[in-house]
Amino acid sequence: MEWLDLQNPRPRSEPLQYVPVVWPTSALLPLPDNLLPDTPPFASVVESRRTRYSFTALPDEQLAALMNLTCRVKATLAGPLSFPQSYRPAPSAGAIHPIHVVLHRPGDDDLYRYDPNEHGLLQLNTSLDVTTLRATMHEVIDAPNATLLLFVAEPDMTASKYENATSLVWRDAGVLLGIFSMAAEALSLSFSPMGVTGEPWASRLVPGAPLFGVGAAMVGGRS
Ligand SMILES: Cc1cc2nc3c(=O)[nH]c(=O)nc-3n(C[C@H](O)[C@H](O)[C@H](O)COP(=O)(O)O)c2cc1C
Repeated sequence: MEWLDLQNPRPRSEPLQYVPVVWPTSALLPLPDNLLPDTPPFASVVESRRTRYSFTALPDEQLAALMNLTCRVKATLAGPLSFPQSYRPAPSAGAIHPIHVVLHRPGDDDLYRYDPNEHGLLQLNTSLDVTTLRATMHEVIDAPNATLLLFVAEPDMTASKYENATSLVWRDAGVLLGIFSMAAEALSLSFSPMGVTGEPWASRLVPGAPLFGVGAAMVGGRS
């Protein structure tokens, strides 16, 4: 294979000013604000985790618990960047968290972006054809009952703090996928990572915006 050298990241001496993408969305649909669910001990979650391919619909309570254990902002930092950094369950280079999670629920006409600050779903105003998106993803994993997750990176966020930021964004995507797989297991859900990046769909979600697909997954209840 041809190994692409993504170059060593290095903090900039001065951050670049960057204004994050404003996603065209409708009003927030709050997710249930569960306390931490009762999960098995971490060691037994690690022992039992498997990629699982049979899915039932994911109730809102379980989606809420999953997002709480993976993406939800636990603390916001007032740093030197032109947008807030945050602490969340997953580590992220520079506490920047440049990866957005976009969801498609089975049978739904719409896509949603998870709002990690408000712990809710924002319906996307997008012209993306969800039927085609879903059909393409089913060519990879045929899971009509699963919720589709798209990991959509905004690399300029990380690039505002680091030179050669590309590998950091990809590593953030891997960390997030790993946390999702563990959290799904802890919640007794089925979870399957997907090898596709989510392109060309992810970069068409908000026309003209610097957003790029860095992964996808299917998640749902276990049958
Ligand atoms: C980055 C990544 C991409 C993957 N892509 C796919 C995929 O496209 N289709 C699939 O069926 N499984 C996919 N998998 C799941 C792997 O096949 C699975 O992790 C592997 O067989 C080991 O099984 P385990 O997860 O149960 O330990 C992917 C896993 C990772 C981490």
